[in-house]
Amino acid sequence: MYASRGQRQVSWYQPDPRLSAALVMDAAASLPAGRDSAVIDAGGGASLLAQRLTIAGFTDMTVLDVSAAALAAGRARPGSGRIRWINADLLGWKPARAYQIWHDRAVFHFLVTPPCPTAARSSWPPSPPTAPSTAPGSQSPATTRPG
Ligand SMILES: C[S@@+](CC[C@H](N)C(=O)[O-])C[C@H]1O[C@@H](n2cnc3c(N)ncnc32)[C@H](O)[C@@H]1O
Repeated sequence: MYASRGQRQVSWYQPDPRLSAALVMDAAASLPAGRDSAVIDAGGGASLLAQRLTIAGFTDMTVLDVSAAALAAGRARPGSGRIRWINADLLGWKPARAYQIWHDRAVFHFLVTPPCPTAARSSWPPSPPTAPSTAPGSQSPATTRPG
């Protein structure tokens, strides 16, 4: 999708992900580490959220997506070296660490109703989900949908 259309031509493109940024900032404000909390944008694609949050002072930002083209678009932006980029399928990914804040916009709801329109995978249904890798006292995932 990203490779054929480009990051701004996809229907979910947002020039300013302000609601998502506000949710993550609110969550971080209630955590001891504040803006040093580990944050993951699960299925973040080419969203500008990670860039916006690092500019706002977040120091431990990760973006995960199954699309290498989406991640390449994010990596091409200024400041991307301060963000960790993971190219993986959420359905099989095993986090190597804990994240205090999980953000998802328009991703997880695709993964509960087959067929998933955006992920390429070899089998359906996926294995039962494992426990989320959040730290004790961490925030619930912040989930938003386009609209
Ligand atoms: C509708 S887009 C939303 C992208 C981003 N969250 C945003 O708000 O712009 C859905 C994203 O989820 C990714 N995705 C879908 N299934 C996935 C999976 N199983 N693992 C990781 N990423 C996935 C797609 O590649 C795409 O970037």
